[in-house]
Amino acid sequence: MHTATAEALSNIAFIKYWGNRDQTLRLPSNASLSMNLAGLKTVTTVAFDPSLPGPDALTLNGHPTTGAALARVTRHLDLVRAAAGLSARAVVTSHNTFPSGAGIASSASGFAALTVAAARAAGLALNEVDLSVLARRGSGSASRSIPAGFTEWLAGEQPSGEDSYARTIAPPEHWALTDVIAVLSAAHKATGSTEGHGLADTSPFQAARVADAPRRLSLCRTALLARDFSAFSEIVEEDAVAMHAVMMTSRPPLFYWQPLTIAVIQAVPVWRAEGLPVCFTIDAGPNVHCLTPTEHAPEVERRLRALGVPDVLAAAPGGPARIIA
Ligand code: DP6
Repeated sequence: MHTATAEALSNIAFIKYWGNRDQTLRLPSNASLSMNLAGLKTVTTVAFDPSLPGPDALTLNGHPTTGAALARVTRHLDLVRAAAGLSARAVVTSHNTFPSGAGIASSASGFAALTVAAARAAGLALNEVDLSVLARRGSGSASRSIPAGFTEWLAGEQPSGEDSYARTIAPPEHWALTDVIAVLSAAHKATGSTEGHGLADTSPFQAARVADAPRRLSLCRTALLARDFSAFSEIVEEDAVAMHAVMMTSRPPLFYWQPLTIAVIQAVPVWRAEGLPVCFTIDAGPNVHCLTPTEHAPEVERRLRALGVPDVLAAAPGGPARIIA
């Protein structure tokens, strides 16, 4: 029996991935940029067992899991089995260190950890680029959870996807930023990212968002490398709102915001104008990620709670994904 255990972090995108040019290979319509979130981690063990008769077995956060989640894991393991010439079924045990159902995307950390553990357990010797390409097939944003720190996922040009992977543009120590997450709802989101990516092109605004993405990414990368918080905040908020404009104008439309989401995104620019360096971004859910230099994180959390935010999580830059056993 071949076993390996890996850990990988969730990430928050500053320039968002929304929409694919190839939905099956998860080739994105635009490049994206993110920060891996220390502490928001998935730990996954994969054991290929030739004596296992049935399907792959999956345990998520202590619960035996079948259905769509298992099917997605099996499809991913099939890619690893094909590359390694293996036919053995696997036992996969995975848990998150962040509260499940807090609306923190677990597909990025989950598929990054699954990729690293399964590749090692299958005896594949993959480098970071190979692992990022493979993780991308499981979940697009998982490609960005393979390398360390602040990472950029190149859209790539090849139809095969071999040049669509993420790489580190700055190590975790580059900038002491904290993601102070306003956790607004534990409810499962109505429309998941995979389905949402498939709707992106039904919005008349998606083509404009994608056409302008290189400009936003370049401004964001430059601001990040220069640690220019003022330029960074402007472009991060602009990019998140552009993605939500596409979501809201898709057919059918996707409305992820809740009243408290709007209260936070109206307050944050006011706080910034008052001198508190903080900006917001939002993924496919109601939670608001408030990015701030780490020394200001306690003040951001205090103000979020004063607005009525029920729960707050904080995460600093971290990574890379790695084998731990
Ligand atoms: C809004 O990577 O979760 O968080 O490839 O279908 O798993 P799949 O989608 P996923 O999409 C992430 C969407 C986002 C923006 C981002 O993280 O860039």
